[in-house]
Amino acid sequence: MRHLLTWSQWSDSEIQDLVDFAAHVKGHRTFYNGAMLGRSIAMLFQKTSTRTRVSFEAALTEMGGHAIYIDWMSSNFELTDISFESKYLSRNVSLIVARMKRHEDLEQIARGSEVPVVNGCCNLYHPCQSLADMLTIKLDAGKLEGVSMCYVGVHNNVVNSLIEITAALGVHLVLVTPLTNEGARIDSVIERGMKAGTLTWEKDMSQAVKNVDYVYTDTWVDMEFFHDPAFQEEKESRMKLMLPYQLNHDALRFSKAKVMHDMPIHAGFEISRQLVEDSRSIIFQQAENRLDAQKAVILRLLDRHG
Ligand code: CP
Repeated sequence: MRHLLTWSQWSDSEIQDLVDFAAHVKGHRTFYNGAMLGRSIAMLFQKTSTRTRVSFEAALTEMGGHAIYIDWMSSNFELTDISFESKYLSRNVSLIVARMKRHEDLEQIARGSEVPVVNGCCNLYHPCQSLADMLTIKLDAGKLEGVSMCYVGVHNNVVNSLIEITAALGVHLVLVTPLTNEGARIDSVIERGMKAGTLTWEKDMSQAVKNVDYVYTDTWVDMEFFHDPAFQEEKESRMKLMLPYQLNHDALRFSKAKVMHDMPIHAGFEISRQLVEDSRSIIFQQAENRLDAQKAVILRLLDRHG
């Protein structure tokens, strides 16, 4: 049985095929209406979400099925072995989406499940986001192979999935990452990027953004820590260290790159409000494409793509 926990379980050609399929789904919005008729998926969230929840839920509605939202705190997952709960869940639904704080717990869910499990973002990976990112570039540039992207910010879960997916698709990824989240540097992920020859690092942001097609940034603080009083000192110190790496008009004055961000946006921190609203920003197309990417993942994992 197929899961989407990280891209490491997917070959380059399977990933290429999935991105092509997502583009097809986007171009045929009503074609898959009814593809999930009479079927449900479960969406388990241990952390907050706007896009991941909405895109999966809307995807199911459009395809004639139903998405059951399960809030971690008001479910019984916390009271028992996670794999027992996911085994039960999988006897009611066709697929499970889980947003977990720890990747190990996501793996527990997959261990118990008798249906495909999709990672809705954990501490180490965000594959669904990276699929929408690549779909966005494919639709914008008309191709992926040979396109270049610079990610400026903290090396986090989004970066890991970007390294893996760009390696599979031949997209050059330059990382300007003065900070790395705890445990986020994963040797096997780096190896995939290095082996593909798509991954490089650059210290100087102005050099790095000069000749790339896309620049991408993300929050400097993961969502579960944003309002955590115990993380406030670390948050302050991160803000000071990272402010010179803010994406704004000045930082991009010698660059023609289009601007991406996976949202939620913290305007005035990792990116300026002016740049979010600038004509070079494709951030809202990128967020919109989560819907089509999610549909493609569901249909592919359930083998309902016709
Ligand atoms: N980008 C993303 O996953 O958004 P949410 O956290 O709002 O789901």
